[in-house]
Amino acid sequence: MIRLSFILVVIAYLGTCEQIGRRRAVPVIYLRGSHYDVGYDVGRTFSSVIKDFISTYANLRDFEKEYKTDNGKQAYDKTLANMKKRYPYYLKEMQGVADGAKVPFYQLFLLQMDDIIGTINDNHIPRNDTGGCSSIGINNSEDAVLAHTEDAFSETLNHFYIMSAHIIPTQEDKELGAREERFASLCYAGHMPGYTMGYNANGLVFSINTLSPMILKAGNTPRTFITRALLSAKNFEDAEKILTDEGLGAANGCSVNMIWTDENGQRSLYNVEMAPDLTADKSLLNVKKFENEVTIHTNKYLRLHLKEVDGPIIDSSNARLDAIYKHPKPKNREDLQNILSDTSRQDFQVFQEKEDSEIKTIAAGIFDLGEKTWNIYINKPNSSEPVAILPIMFTNLGK
Ligand SMILES: *[C@@H]1O[C@H](CO)[C@@H](O)[C@H](O)[C@H]1NC(C)=O
Ligand SMILES: *[C@@H]1O[C@H](CO)[C@@H](O)[C@H](O)[C@H]1NC(C)=O
Ligand SMILES: *[C@@H]1O[C@H](CO)[C@@H](O)[C@H](O)[C@H]1NC(C)=O
Repeated sequence: MIRLSFILVVIAYLGTCEQIGRRRAVPVIYLRGSHYDVGYDVGRTFSSVIKDFISTYANLRDFEKEYKTDNGKQAYDKTLANMKKRYPYYLKEMQGVADGAKVPFYQLFLLQMDDIIGTINDNHIPRNDTGGCSSIGINNSEDAVLAHTEDAFSETLNHFYIMSAHIIPTQEDKELGAREERFASLCYAGHMPGYTMGYNANGLVFSINTLSPMILKAGNTPRTFITRALLSAKNFEDAEKILTDEGLGAANGCSVNMIWTDENGQRSLYNVEMAPDLTADKSLLNVKKFENEVTIHTNKYLRLHLKEVDGPIIDSSNARLDAIYKHPKPKNREDLQNILSDTSRQDFQVFQEKEDSEIKTIAAGIFDLGEKTWNIYINKPNSSEPVAILPIMFTNLGK
């Protein structure tokens, strides 16, 4: 008997350390309610995934260490105070996630601060920076498609879900500026929706690429709050206003790929590069509209002139751009699926699946605007079927 229970303990122990590999699962949760309630249901439903992510994500250990320093605490407090003024209802949504998942709020807030807190005491380069994503958008007479690989630290593999939400703000939140929102977005566990890929009911489909300016503005708006707010955008002008964030401005950087469809079915393809503005209380933006062209973006600035980090994020971006440009100019969805599946390079790959790479493609998304579908692939999109196909519902258009 003693021997048997010993063996059972060993088996149970091995069970928890087991490498579960790449799961072909796309959890989707449909939600309706106030910001807090929607957050709470996400937290309650995905508690184990969120807890597991928080306990294994190496960067968070680093953010917690910085948070214990004077500079780190100051940056945290200033950011939180600013977000209480600017986006109090998104803080309530985060509090809902924390309460539902039974995890401390400050850990979720540190995830949102990301490189802002990570570099607060030591802003050296080369830096192993977060992110790695490739986005390609096309709009021509044949197809309108946005294709995106969601690349993240390997801990994020199997630690994401999709929120399909209808937010009905409380009266109190409405008075603070909250809007009714309908959107679907992929979320890394415990993170706000918006900083990955998704769509909203007002005609927007989007994807995000992390960018890493060298100099950040601690205390300003974390990019993830700006991309959370982007889910409420009514049209391109509104999106531009949200990204500009007048009076404060982005603390860190990213690139936003957008295809907007208007009520007449006309489509416009944009890429916006965003960075902290070191001379004004707003974000620095470079907006480019693509007329019957292809937009391609990885994790380095292509148009804004500023000092960015160097390190693997830039090496990987250059390698992926090089691999992408070796393909003929993409004309349709099939071309895009082939490009996203490229693993031709030894160092960095467009579809990053090598066992030992720190950054991995956790999912690929193909937004097909002709079909009005969002196709999510876990394996290479040119040789596997999408694991999930979500409808793109522009329910607010023409209202
Ligand atoms: C950064 O890279 C170095 C060298 O490759 C590695 O030792 C370290 O663990 C990395 N840090 C993080 C947070 O991944
Ligand atoms: C997108 O493609 C359609 C069809 O070719 C075209 O009518 C429209 O002008 C294009 N939009 C842009 C912004 O290129
Ligand atoms: C998928 O695309 C890659 C190029 O990125 C190509 O080498 C490979 O042959 C394609 N696979 C299939 C099954 O079409």
